[in-house]
Amino acid sequence: MHVTLLGTAAGGGFPQWNCWCPTCRVAREDPERAGPRSQSSIAFSADGVRWFLGNASPDVREQIAQLPHAEVTGVRHVPVEGIVLTDAELDHTLGVTLLREGRRLQIVATPAVIHTIAEDSRVLPVTEAFATVKVVEVDLGNAVSLDYRDGSASGLTIEMKAVRGDPPRFARREEVGHTVAAFIRDTRTGKECAFVPGCGGLGPKLLARLDQAELLLFDGTFWTDDELARLDISDRLALSMGHVPISGAEGSLAALSQLKCRHKVYTHINNTNPMLIEGSEERAAVEAAGMIVGMDGMRFEI
Ligand code: MLT
Ligand code: MN
Ligand code: ZN
Repeated sequence: MHVTLLGTAAGGGFPQWNCWCPTCRVAREDPERAGPRSQSSIAFSADGVRWFLGNASPDVREQIAQLPHAEVTGVRHVPVEGIVLTDAELDHTLGVTLLREGRRLQIVATPAVIHTIAEDSRVLPVTEAFATVKVVEVDLGNAVSLDYRDGSASGLTIEMKAVRGDPPRFARREEVGHTVAAFIRDTRTGKECAFVPGCGGLGPKLLARLDQAELLLFDGTFWTDDELARLDISDRLALSMGHVPISGAEGSLAALSQLKCRHKVYTHINNTNPMLIEGSEERAAVEAAGMIVGMDGMRFEI
């Protein structure tokens, strides 16, 4: 299976358009020291030419232009076979509407996420005004086959596990499965990618499940719980926003450093996170623990 990190920043991207925090300043003034990043999304494929998206960001147009594809003979070619959603946040779903020219799209998500994009954000009905959307509802804990748009099996399966988190601000109800870890498995090799761009806490059960993955892509939003408060950006704590901080005894780095996964990568990194700066103490701590700070364009083959 091929996995490409299309975008590794949290909502707003890096630097964020309206932000002049210390890290955003470095990204503008000295991009060599803090590489700009687009908003959180991945692409994955069994054959390297037919791709599924893991979330669809507002930067989807530029992101999918980077993907390899088979030779195009007709006048139209849709390089995306399906979009797997791990939550209904705007940074993960607005890209669906931007693919409306595709005419035939496929969305794969839990019933909770589908309800939110159907009724609250209305991303689904808006897109359906332009395109036929096949909606595949995936119940928690069941591995289901990911099929291409022509109905044939891709050889990949997807399984969703609910994780701690905060439903989107615009969601009118809190339903189990509003935020999930997605486990993408290649049935030919048995290798798995765990895609978890938003996660509010790591319990022993989730950690044991993540440990089975060859490639782990995990929530790298905030370095500390009070990161936004310290910068006077917001009073909200990372945990109350559904993002477990990286640092500290209860942080994700201490827990994930124990896992045997071959590649462990942080993604969905907020623009305020000091590990974005090359050579920073925080970057060194992540790397010393055997983890990688994700960057747009990184590719993994598992
Ligand atoms: C999140 O990751 O918590 C959300 O994307 C926040 C937001 O965009 O409002
Ligand atoms: Mn987000
Ligand atoms: Zn910033």
